[in-house]
Amino acid sequence: MKSFINVEDLGDLKQALAEAQEIKQDRYKYQHLGKNKTLMMIFFNNSLRTRLSTQKAAMNLGMNVIVLDVNAGAWKLETERGVIMNSDKSEHLLEAIPVMGCYCDIIGVRSFAGLKDREYDYAETVLNQFIKYSGKPVFAMETATVHPLQAFADLITIEEYRPTPVPSQREGGICDAMNHSPLLSGGAGGRLKVVLTWAPHCRALPQAVPNSFAQWMNAADVDFVITHPKGYELDPMFVGNARVEYDQKKAFEGADFIYAKNWSNPGVTSPADYGKITCEDMSWMVDTEHMSWTNNAKFMHCLPVRRNLIVTDDVIESENSIVIPEAANREISCSVVLKRMLEAL
Ligand code: CP
Repeated sequence: MKSFINVEDLGDLKQALAEAQEIKQDRYKYQHLGKNKTLMMIFFNNSLRTRLSTQKAAMNLGMNVIVLDVNAGAWKLETERGVIMNSDKSEHLLEAIPVMGCYCDIIGVRSFAGLKDREYDYAETVLNQFIKYSGKPVFAMETATVHPLQAFADLITIEEYRPTPVPSQREGGICDAMNHSPLLSGGAGGRLKVVLTWAPHCRALPQAVPNSFAQWMNAADVDFVITHPKGYELDPMFVGNARVEYDQKKAFEGADFIYAKNWSNPGVTSPADYGKITCEDMSWMVDTEHMSWTNNAKFMHCLPVRRNLIVTDDVIESENSIVIPEAANREISCSVVLKRMLEAL
């Protein structure tokens, strides 16, 4: 695998889930693959889970790891071509990227959307410069429009926690679940219902997490519903065949999984609103009443989460909340991705 950005990069999801299960049973099985290989992780933005889980996954595979926080200790980087560089930015990405590529075998990039210029963000300008100029395989650690390591971890988590018709099947975890047709059936033997719900927030956040979650749920065989206030429509290339339901209660009814996330206005129906907060309706916050509309759904969020804006204390602390195992699976999703990239070197 030369790059990891979209769900298609992973190929067959059943096979990918099998590899995740194999690695979960023995995280060090492929330690030989990373010997004398170096991962460079480049952060333009803050991180807790991605930083730690990616580093851990690389160490599990025997890799060396270099971490660069672009905004803390490195020269400030200019990203636009044609700019007269007489500001505080001392180096251009077009020199910095090939230099970084000299010191490593694989590059991970975190570079969020600026939320000012939709065209620039959705062109994945920074990520594509790394792909073009580094000379090394590149994977997204949340870029302007996607967060595939998170979405893969979410898929692994849904597979692990999906209700099974016979309780004893649940004991075997992901392996047994997979032997009964992954992502095909819910608690009553029907299709799993997975709901992505917008929730309020005090700051404008990117659309990368909901975009990738939508992309991955569309690729999985689940009944996938997206619910949000009018005006918050995600880009159609990510919505795909999902059902969009503007009535949050109707969307939640019968759900097996509730995936909460805030995102700023994607500017699909109103380009001038791109990246803005155009709804502050607190009735969208997920509380116990919301969860009572569901089929005893599990609660998911990628974290970090602001309590009592997105979700109440009661819901995130409930036994149906699986946010911690979801975060733990970030190590597993990244291990599969790095293993495949090492195999392709
Ligand atoms: N979910 C996630 O990517 O977390 P971080 O921003 O802390 O890396």
